[in-house]
Amino acid sequence: MQCLQQIRALRDTLDAHRRAGRSIGLVPTMGNLHDGHLALVAEARRRADIVVASIFVNPTQFGPGEDLDAYPRTFEADRRQLAEAGCDLVFAPDEATLYPRGGAAQTRVSVPDVSQGLCGGSRPGHFDGVATVVTMLFHLVQPDLACFGEKDYQQLAVIRRLVDDLHLPIEIIGVPIVRDADGLALSSRNGYLNADQRRTAARLQQTLGELRDALENGAAIAPTLDQGRQRLRAAGFEPDYLELRAADLSEPDASTGDAVLLAAAWLGSTRLIDNLTLRLP
Ligand code: PAJ
Repeated sequence: MQCLQQIRALRDTLDAHRRAGRSIGLVPTMGNLHDGHLALVAEARRRADIVVASIFVNPTQFGPGEDLDAYPRTFEADRRQLAEAGCDLVFAPDEATLYPRGGAAQTRVSVPDVSQGLCGGSRPGHFDGVATVVTMLFHLVQPDLACFGEKDYQQLAVIRRLVDDLHLPIEIIGVPIVRDADGLALSSRNGYLNADQRRTAARLQQTLGELRDALENGAAIAPTLDQGRQRLRAAGFEPDYLELRAADLSEPDASTGDAVLLAAAWLGSTRLIDNLTLRLP
């Protein structure tokens, strides 16, 4: 597995693969890899000749007071896991390589419609940072396809919209959420939880499951969501949002069938997100 930090080397290497007629699959990450990330690599491995993973803790998607400095950086372990997963190339640029003028002085990509509300509401500017760095990675790698996790449901919707709006010839693959045995969605931020919080954390997904069952059986939406927020509080969470949306993230109405329950909740100073898709009656 090749490990590159510079844009020139990345371009030269990938140009050679393209000239040889090989398809390229991209898996963008911020590192501190777990089985959720590795499921994306496995999916890219199945679909493309050359698998490129990027590792970059992108400063422009972190707000003031968020965990940019604390975000776990575990490059050597990440590299080992990627090699074992059959990744061909890791692109791990440093900040000055991607943002030579600093993040703030940079051209921005913004996907306002899909970025509204949910995580975009709680983290202003977050999805502009995501859309900007992912657009940059798309231009640097020029992949045929790119894999993103359904765990970050709104992020996936933002990426799909930007690819559509900018007419990028890249197939976006959504990969199902990988969970721990107790149902907690794997996340680099789970490492912030103490033992007590870790036991509580699985209640987020369990609550979403209970709400899904109720909604699929015709329960009224607003009171069911209220009940969900109460259950999360009783379990020890401070809910950030708990919402039902149509699968495309528009507000649900009487005609909505495919829908998604999305939640973000704090356990102490750790913010967890999760979602479950469902079918409204
Ligand atoms: P990161 O949080 O490292 O996640 C990288 C990719 O892994 C994302 O597509 C995310 O949805 C996916 N992922 C994380 N946990 C998962 C799980 N439990 N199951 C399935 N997929 C999972 O998301 C980012 O980084 C950044 O915003 C990025 C897209 C790299 C842009 O900086």
